[in-house]
Amino acid sequence: QEDVISIRDMDSEKLESIFGATEKILRMPPDSRRKITLGRTLGYLFFEPSTRTRLSFQAAMAATGGTSLGIADVTSSSTQKGESLADTVRIMSIYSDVLVLRHPSDGSSRFAAEVSDKPVINGGSGTEEHPTQAIQDLFTIKREKGKIDGLNIGIVGDLKYGRTVYSLLYGLGNYDVKIKKRLSFTESASLEDVIDDLDVVYVTRIQKERFPDEEEYLKVRGSYVIGLDMVKRMKSGAIIMHPLPRLDEISADIDRSRNAKYFKQAEYGKYTRAALLGLILNKNGF
Ligand code: CP
Repeated sequence: QEDVISIRDMDSEKLESIFGATEKILRMPPDSRRKITLGRTLGYLFFEPSTRTRLSFQAAMAATGGTSLGIADVTSSSTQKGESLADTVRIMSIYSDVLVLRHPSDGSSRFAAEVSDKPVINGGSGTEEHPTQAIQDLFTIKREKGKIDGLNIGIVGDLKYGRTVYSLLYGLGNYDVKIKKRLSFTESASLEDVIDDLDVVYVTRIQKERFPDEEEYLKVRGSYVIGLDMVKRMKSGAIIMHPLPRLDEISADIDRSRNAKYFKQAEYGKYTRAALLGLILNKNGF
């Protein structure tokens, strides 16, 4: 059973094999793509809201010939009657070939993998990890910049509660990169001081839902906004990324800039997840 629980379980060889499979899918004609997960089912269990992660997994299954079923909103499931996470996962593993779980608790995906007969993919667990987002982010950097090694990467926003950032930093640990962080709570560097040196500016949302009290959130809300003035100072080939959803961190007038890659990043999410599913469901490759 090949679970995907943490990006820390993946070395650069594993990551490169997923990137290679993603490139292969991008080059494949639609008819060939539709054989990759033909007859297989993805079961999704989302205990927290999602737009991109759930839809990109479903789009990945549809594009590769498989199907998906699941719970997008736990208020419509028997969780409301008190059914345990373990039993919900056990039932889903009867009805599907691979599961994706999003849950507010740290350790939830590892726990699910222990009770599931089928592989479990972590679609975001508490504040700890979001490994498939990191795969998509690393792929985006590699595809848009042609490499990952040697780049200067700036990470801006909520580095305390953002699981996406934790997974990305662990993933970047496989590469030779310089990272500048503007922390939410410990400001180690001003973005204005480093923006012209950066190859990648990775912006994140302040995770309001994870703050223990609103006062703490209000102190940092709106502190990390990238405007056109900053984009004009960036290197011409530098890219702006964001896992999305965004609030006010990136103004909409930046969307048409050549530097803006966050919607492309979301598009790559479908293909990196298709590659991951293809590799999990086809032991001998595809
Ligand atoms: N990036 C991301 O995880 O988006 P969703 O919360 O919409 O899935």
